[in-house]
Amino acid sequence: MFSALDDKEKAIVVDAMEVDYNKKGDVIIKQGLQGEKLFVIGSGTLKCYKLFSGNTEETFLKTFQPGEAFGELALLYNAPRAATIIADEDCTLYGLDRDTFNHIVKDAAAKKREKYEKFLENVKILSTMDAYERSKLSDAFKEETFQPGEFIIKEGEEGNQLYLIEEGETIATKVLVPGEAPKEVMQYKLGDYFGERALLKNEPRAANVVAKTVCTVVSMDRHSFKRLLGPIEELLKRNLSIYEQFK
Ligand code: CMP
Ligand code: CMP
Repeated sequence: MFSALDDKEKAIVVDAMEVDYNKKGDVIIKQGLQGEKLFVIGSGTLKCYKLFSGNTEETFLKTFQPGEAFGELALLYNAPRAATIIADEDCTLYGLDRDTFNHIVKDAAAKKREKYEKFLENVKILSTMDAYERSKLSDAFKEETFQPGEFIIKEGEEGNQLYLIEEGETIATKVLVPGEAPKEVMQYKLGDYFGERALLKNEPRAANVVAKTVCTVVSMDRHSFKRLLGPIEELLKRNLSIYEQFK
């Protein structure tokens, strides 16, 4: 959410934040009401529930952890609160008012979410995540462009990013026989991902990934990966088995 801000803008946001101590059980946000603030969690966890239309009972959606932000949707889209958020423990929150948010954060964050919305709908590996979970990935994305032949990942190096292809094609190459040149083992196109293995297994990069055409990729770091891709971590782990044939 705040990744697009420069240092000066970050300082303004931090100055504007007000600390807010809450007890377990406090309702911080109530679905359907107007929203005036977004919150960043300093300590404690909170639970998020939503009443879907046609239902009589709320559905539990997720637990928010320290370091995460919530309550941004009402400010981004000028809409009523889309869910209810209740403190699951005593917690410390940092609230940011609508005015500061509108002036400093909103445009950059909304633009980034809108920019990647269509792209993310077409990324197959993410199809089991809901639209809200997917939109939050955009906040963490860093975009880069590579020229044909440029290395995006080098076999044997330490790896801290997962990549998704937004445009263009890449190939993976790997040393299959020690002492021989690396061989092509995989091709990637729009919507494919790579670089997940080092993050899942805490091992060095197991292959090279090289741009085949001019290509634009978005990456997210290890921290965002853990925080945002929890819902598909098991799926990513299962998919690692496709590399077994190249051992
Ligand atoms: P807001 O609508 O302002 O207030 C409720 C918050 O719940 C919302 O912003 C999001 O930060 C958060 N939330 C978490 N999961 C969802 C979801 N699936 N749909 C809508 N809001 C969600
Ligand atoms: P990682 O090891 O982080 O970095 C290189 C990436 O290449 C790897 O994650 C996979 O996403 C991808 N890759 C493609 N083919 C292979 C393969 N045969 N073995 C390992 N990784 C592969």
